Amino acid sequence: EVSPEFTKGLPKAELHLHIEGTLEPDLKLKLAKRNHVDIGQTTIEEVQKTYQYDDLASFLAVYYPAMNVLQHEQDFYDLAFAYLQRAAANHVRHVEIFFDPQAHTSRGIPFATVINGLHRAVVDARALNVDAALIMCFLRDFSKESARKTLLQAMAYKDKIIGVGLDSDEHNNPPLKFARQFEDAAAAGLHLTTHCDIDQKDSIEHIRQALEMMDVERLDHGTNIVEDPDLVDFVAKKKIGLTSCPLSNSFVSPEMKGKEVLALLAKNVKVSIHSDDPAYFGGYISDNYYAIANKFNLTKDQIVTLAKNSFETSWISDEKKALYL
Ligand code: HPA
Ligand code: ZN
Repeated sequence: EVSPEFTKGLPKAELHLHIEGTLEPDLKLKLAKRNHVDIGQTTIEEVQKTYQYDDLASFLAVYYPAMNVLQHEQDFYDLAFAYLQRAAANHVRHVEIFFDPQAHTSRGIPFATVINGLHRAVVDARALNVDAALIMCFLRDFSKESARKTLLQAMAYKDKIIGVGLDSDEHNNPPLKFARQFEDAAAAGLHLTTHCDIDQKDSIEHIRQALEMMDVERLDHGTNIVEDPDLVDFVAKKKIGLTSCPLSNSFVSPEMKGKEVLALLAKNVKVSIHSDDPAYFGGYISDNYYAIANKFNLTKDQIVTLAKNSFETSWISDEKKALYL
């Protein structure tokens, strides 16, 4: 009964979206040309042929090198504004956008170039009726000293950032590695979330650390939590949001964690649906809703609950939340 038109028209909050993961092949090629960066491909088909991955590590090996085409403030603006136009078309009313400053500063791009370009797009999105905010992610496979330096850089732009997260290669990079940075970020008034990817062997231990020792407010992916009923009770009681990304999951798990999402919904956990890296995983947020709805025969009520969960666990004011609940 759920159609693509229904999932598209529903007002949604997008909470798990990496701006670098919205770099579509055509913009990638345009920026490569504009900035004289040789990416090894010159046509959309050639670019798409490089999109082969079956786990987090093989995805990241394609994902990070492509960011070389992002050089100037205008490039970051163009990337973000192109995404925000798509968000508007998908009836996304609120979006909290991840960005990876270290993926850029580590190749010589100033922090200011990144944040100023992204922030300008966030401001211009108001005209599209999209309320946008930025979440700074630390690359968890970089050192904690690098994270510390990045947090210090961010402090000059604190009013342009709503929270911090952790992404990139989770293997042997537990949340606790960044305990101090998270504590300092929280003390500075920033919200906290972290990726707990679905294909990790220490998944439950990482989820436990994030929840019990670091007071995160959301888990990105995190649906492996169903393996531990006590942790499920904890997130249900605390209204911790879990941001699941079906199309991203489908690259590493045939059932896209749909059963887990349904089990969590049944336990009143605030799970919601998002798009992760839509230019790489084959669809934006409405496509992700439709993919899981279609495969698992979700009802309209279940879809509406998922969308309400996205607003409820977002970091907008209670007044704004009330408009959507
Ligand atoms: N996990 C870890 N790192 C990432 C992801 C993800 O889902 N997307 C982009 N970087
Ligand atoms: Zn992600």
